[in-house]
Amino acid sequence: MPEFDPDYEAKRSLTRIRPKILERIEQSSQSLLSDEQLIETIDARLSEHWSRLFGLLYRLYGEHYDFFFYLENITLTAVDCWLSRPDELYQLDIRRENDPGWYLSERMVGGSLYVDLFSDDLNTLRDRIPYFKDLGLTYVHLMPLFAARSGNNDGGYAINDYRSVDPDLGTIEDLRGLASDFRKVGISLVLDFVFNHTSDEHAWAIKAQEGDREFENYFHTYPDRTIPAKYEANLREIFPTIRRGNFTWHEGMQRWIWTTFNSFQWDLKYSNPEVFRAMAAEMLFLANTGVEILRLDAVAFVWKQMGTSCENLPEAHLLIQAFNALCRIAAPGLVFKSEAIVHPDEVVRYISREECQISYNPTLMALLWESIATRETKLLKQSLGHRQYLNAGTSWVNYLRGHDDIGWSFDNGDAWAVGINPDDHRNFLNKFYTGRFAGTFAAGVPFQHNETNGDMRVSGTMASLAGLEKATDRGDKALTELAVQRIRMLYGVLCSIGGIPLIFLGEEWGLINDYAYKEDPEKEADSRWIHRPRMVWSILKELKKKRSVNKRIFLNLQLLFKERKASPALTGSHMRLLPCDNPHTLSYLRWHDSNILVVLANFSEQPQKVDLRSLRTEGLAHYLKDVFSQSTYSTNDTITLEPYALLWLQED
Ligand code: GLC
Ligand code: GLC
Repeated sequence: MPEFDPDYEAKRSLTRIRPKILERIEQSSQSLLSDEQLIETIDARLSEHWSRLFGLLYRLYGEHYDFFFYLENITLTAVDCWLSRPDELYQLDIRRENDPGWYLSERMVGGSLYVDLFSDDLNTLRDRIPYFKDLGLTYVHLMPLFAARSGNNDGGYAINDYRSVDPDLGTIEDLRGLASDFRKVGISLVLDFVFNHTSDEHAWAIKAQEGDREFENYFHTYPDRTIPAKYEANLREIFPTIRRGNFTWHEGMQRWIWTTFNSFQWDLKYSNPEVFRAMAAEMLFLANTGVEILRLDAVAFVWKQMGTSCENLPEAHLLIQAFNALCRIAAPGLVFKSEAIVHPDEVVRYISREECQISYNPTLMALLWESIATRETKLLKQSLGHRQYLNAGTSWVNYLRGHDDIGWSFDNGDAWAVGINPDDHRNFLNKFYTGRFAGTFAAGVPFQHNETNGDMRVSGTMASLAGLEKATDRGDKALTELAVQRIRMLYGVLCSIGGIPLIFLGEEWGLINDYAYKEDPEKEADSRWIHRPRMVWSILKELKKKRSVNKRIFLNLQLLFKERKASPALTGSHMRLLPCDNPHTLSYLRWHDSNILVVLANFSEQPQKVDLRSLRTEGLAHYLKDVFSQSTYSTNDTITLEPYALLWLQED
């Protein structure tokens, strides 16, 4: 047999498919561009991305006897979605193609929220656009708002239909309108692409339950425990307090179903190319609603291979890259955000222009909490020193809290390198953040305590974990003050360290834990609901009060966002740690073109001395001015940082 020449085969396949693409264009009702312009556009995109797409799909599915059939179907699915893209999004695509790194801008500031908890429904949310603008958000992530299974649906992550909105929240038309209204005021809509699993009530799962073989093959199902047991020898358990193992017995089907998360979340079988095609169609449908950033949920789990942990497998990356290539062809305005809450070495493997352009930064998140618990920055610095750097054209999304729990996913090697025993340290952090360590300021609760191996994660709102709940409960003014400063310092780092800062709405007011979930039978087993409080709009009245803790937190965040946007040095993510011999502080340099910014932060409640002469070696000017206080500092001096001080210094 002659050797397989991928470039040659890619060209040959495209030559065969192209007439069908032209036919689609001819039949389309697209009116913004003429047929000639459409052909020119698609030819240009295919000449740039086709051979990559072909190569990826070939590596994933080349062994299938009917590979070409799928290749053609996948391509035409993408072309159809592209042709039905609304005019406004065609224009967006062109703008983004001319400004591909738009998400690297210092103007980016993100927020995420549950529509029902924040504003009841989509239309009321539209009325809140001025609120987002006032706060300074340019990116709003709406937690899953699709038609989901009734009862427990894992906060919307068990989806019945990717093409319709939960009727309690509105309609798909409302969503399109919202996306468009957002865009008009410079806010990008962010939605989830929950592609690892569907709910057990999704049409595909129902057909599988009815015995349709075509759809049974959309999921991983087994007649008995033999194969599941073999897989399970190497699998983690994600929700061990809810259900042990990774498979669920289905009475009706008399089969075991692969369910990594909850029993009602059925993992999709991506080794079947039809699943890839079907999900690509759902993804591009979402793209056409006007979403600009898709949060790729649970990326680590999408490919399974016997004998492995079935996390972070090479094929998972190929899959996402293939989805990415389809977007470059059919919806280039769209960017992917990776949700890989895994070991830091694995987190970065999802980040590239060709895979996920942006990614949650779970390591930074965990280590910021670690540093305020220990009042020491050595592990944070050790990690930042070699892990914060990202390739050009990509960005971190930095957050303190989200809708999920906190896991201590730092690298053991980083811990040992600074003299920390990683497992003992995780135990300490779990105790500290669940209130079982003497003198802790944090009020959090355990999540998914695994009795077998002792693993645990932590739930709690930003403010409760950062000390505000305990301090205000005790009516202790000094502790409250420390909590306010601690929170400000943390966000000051988040907004400046490189990447997009992201808050979970409610953080801007310092909302504390909501214990009411314990009374709701659908939520009581999932402590993550403690940090998903309902927005209380009357809190806006605080702004009129002279002194209010909530108001101070709000104003601090608002100002940080404003100053971030006014600091061109914060574009992109170049960051260099600055030498500093104080173990309780963090300092780093940010720069872009000729703009520079030096950040200094004190992670303890004690004043700390910092010798600014070390900055001189960085070639900085003699005088630096803090953008917040306007105080000037000389690089000839040793200065004292107040408890939890945060300085953003510019050359004066
Ligand atoms: C993601 C979500 C989490 C959900 C899980 C299953 O990790 O962030 O909330 O439970 O996926 O969809
Ligand atoms: C695990 C998963 C992550 C998910 C989380 C939900 O950490 O890796 O994807 O969000 O569990 O608790």
